[in-house]
Formats: sequence, C-alpha cells, structure tokens
Amino acid sequence: MIETERLILRPFREADFPAWYAVFSDPEIIRTYGGGLYKDKAEARDKFCAHALGNEKKYAITLKENDRVIGEINAADPNPWVKVQPSLLDKRGVSLSFAVLPAFQGKGYATEAAKAVMDFCFARGDEYVNAGFFRGNGSSEAVQKKLGLAFFGEHTYTRGGVTVDVVENIRWNT
Ligand SMILES: CC(C)(COP(=O)(O)OP(=O)(O)OC[C@H]1O[C@@H](n2cnc3c(N)ncnc32)[C@H](O)[C@@H]1OP(=O)(O)O)[C@@H](O)C(=O)NCCC(=O)NCCS
Repeated sequence: MIETERLILRPFREADFPAWYAVFSDPEIIRTYGGGLYKDKAEARDKFCAHALGNEKKYAITLKENDRVIGEINAADPNPWVKVQPSLLDKRGVSLSFAVLPAFQGKGYATEAAKAVMDFCFARGDEYVNAGFFRGNGSSEAVQKKLGLAFFGEHTYTRGGVTVDVVENIRWNT
C-alpha cells in the first residue's frame, strides 16, 4: 500500500471489479492504453481475476477520502521492447502504465500516483523507471514529462491489426 496526499494505492479486491471494469471498458482509455476491448463482462471478469486481483505489481488508484477506485497503475516487468535494449540488459527496472477514469482526469491524480510508485521503486533498488505513450497521447506524454522521464527510444507496436508509434521514456535512479 502506498499513500499520497490524496490517494491510497492498494491491491485490487474482489469488490473492485465494477470500478476496474469501468476503466477497462472505456473505449477512449483502451485506444490510448493499448490492448483491446473485452468481448463482454464475463471475459473482463476472468481477466480481472487472473491478472489484477492480488497482483502486487498492479495498484488500484483510490481516493483517500472514500476508497473510490478511480484508476489503475502498474509497475510491471519492463515491456518486451524495453527489456531487450542493450543498455538495459543488466539493469533492474520497471515499466509504468496508468489509466484514470475520464471523470477524474485532469486533476493531477495520475501524476501523483505515478510519482509515488516511481519513488517506491527507486527506494527498493530499481535502477530505472520506464513509461511509454502512443504518439499523440498528449496527457500521458505530459504526465511522463512531469515525472522527469526523458526520451529513450521509439518503435511501432501492432495489436489487433492496428499499428501505433510508441515513444519510450526513461528516468534513471540517480
Ligand atoms: C494519461 C492519464 C492516465 C492521465 O491521467 P490524469 O489524472 O488526467 O493526469 P494528470 O492530471 O496527472 O496530468 C495530465 C496532464 O496532461 C495534460 N493534458 C491533458 N490533455 C492533454 C493533451 N491533449 N495534450 C497535452 N497535454 C494534455 C494536462 O494539462 C495535465 O498536465 P498539467 O498538470 O501540466 O496541466 C489519463 O488521461 C488516462 O487514463 N488516459 C487513458 C489511458 C492512457 O492513455 N494511459 C497512459 C498510457 S501508459
């Protein structure tokens, strides 16, 4: 559990499924987050149980005042492109990804959550934190800039027949 001024970042619980589903059934979030929309709620529930519940690398972003889940932040193993970069092969790091429900966007929550998770990762000894964004995703780019991440590289990513340009940023633990 990580506490910030306004947020508690904690593991997902069973009762969080409706809120988690609200995040990951939002077409605009999926467009910029990556992956595809779930076929139906049952498929999403299977995914939630298999990958979100009890996953210590995924945090529910919750409002401290009422425990409301407003998004998710991951500090996952480096993504497939990042982890094979020669300069990172012998380094320990994580890839961050985040999503916040539209009604709560623009209030600094993603930046507050990501900063706290980045600090946590650096404190436990990670050597770098990476995050990427699909070119054109101004809000994710802005969050990464506010976190002090700098350009590291770019590549394309194809999923479900759609190819996107991905910018990868990095911040070293100095
Ligand atoms: C990216 C996302 C998590 C940001 O969440 P958030 O809580 O709104 O983020 P913050 O409020 O901390 O910061 C957003 C910043 O983006 C800026 N911003 C918003 N839209 C923008 C745009 N189109 N172009 C440039 N900057 C933009 C805001 O002004 C703000 O910067 P500021 O504080 O300097 O004014 C949220 O938009 C989201 O869930 N998007 C869909 C999923 C996604 O794209 N995730 C990122 C992939 S890793």
